[in-house]
Amino acid sequence: MEYLTKSAIAATEIAPSSGPSAELFSAGETSSTAVLAPSLALRAQAGSRGAPDEGAAQAPAFVIVGEGAGDAAAREALLDRAMGPKRKKKSSEKLRRGRRPSEGLAFVARDASGVVVGTVRLWDVGLGEGGPAALLLGPLAVEPGLKSGGIGSALMRHAVAEAARLGHGAILLVGDAPYYGRFGFSADRTGTLAMPGPYERHRLLALELKDGALDGAKGTIKAAGRRIKGEAQGFVA
Ligand SMILES: CC(C)(COP(=O)(O)OP(=O)(O)OC[C@H]1O[C@@H](n2cnc3c(N)ncnc32)[C@H](O)[C@@H]1OP(=O)(O)O)[C@@H](O)C(=O)NCCC(=O)NCCS
Repeated sequence: MEYLTKSAIAATEIAPSSGPSAELFSAGETSSTAVLAPSLALRAQAGSRGAPDEGAAQAPAFVIVGEGAGDAAAREALLDRAMGPKRKKKSSEKLRRGRRPSEGLAFVARDASGVVVGTVRLWDVGLGEGGPAALLLGPLAVEPGLKSGGIGSALMRHAVAEAARLGHGAILLVGDAPYYGRFGFSADRTGTLAMPGPYERHRLLALELKDGALDGAKGTIKAAGRRIKGEAQGFVA
C-alpha cells in the first residue's frame, strides 16, 4: 500500500481514477456500507514510514470513496459543524433541495476508523433557458479539527477528475477564488450567469472540463437533478 504525503497530493495531476498513487478496491473490502462506489482511494499520511520526526505535525490518514447510503447522517452533522446552521439558506440550496446528487458524484473522506471527515457532492444543473448542462459543486467541507491536512484538496481533485471521466462539460460553484483557483476555477466565464437567489457575483466560479462548454451560456442556473422520490420538498440526499 502506497502512502502519500500532503505535498504529494497537492502535486497530483487531475486525472481519471487510475494511476500509480491510486488504489481501487471493492465495496466488500472497504466497508459494509451497501452503496459504496468502487471509486478512487487516496490515502495521505505525513512523514516517512519510519519513526515520525520529533514534534512534526501528523496529518490525518484518510481515504476518499463514494458516499454510501448510510453516510447521510454523518455528512449532515459534519456540514453543521463545519458551516453552521445558516448553510441551508444559501442560494445553492435551491438547486439541491429535493434532488439527488449527479450520478456517481458524491464523495466522502473517511479516517482510518471509517469516520466521515470530509464531504463533497456535485449536482446536475442547467444554464439558463434551454442552455447547456453543467454541474454545481458543493458543499465541500472538512472536519474542523482536520483542516489543512490536504483532505479538501484531495476531495476536490477527485471530484473534478470523476466529473471529467463521466463526460461532464463544466463545473460551477459559489466559493472563495483564493481557494478554488488552485483547482482551475475562476469567475472569468460566469459573468453572464446568475444564481437563483442572493450571491456574491465574484464568488460564482467555473471550471470547463471540455473546451467551450460554457460558450454562450447565460441566464439563471436551474436545478436539473434527479428528484428524490417522495421528497418533494425535503432535503435528504
Ligand atoms: C475549505 C475547506 C474545505 C478546505 O479543506 P482543507 O482540508 O482544510 O483544505 P486543504 O488542506 O486541501 O488546503 C488547505 C489550504 O487552503 C487554504 N484555505 C482554506 N480555506 C481557504 C479559503 N477560503 N480561501 C483561501 N485559502 C483557503 C488554507 O489556508 C490552507 O493553506 P496552506 O496549504 O497554505 O496551509 C475547509 O477549510 C472547510 O471545511 N471549511 C469550512 C467549510 C467551507 O468554508 N467550505 C467551502 C465553502 S465555499
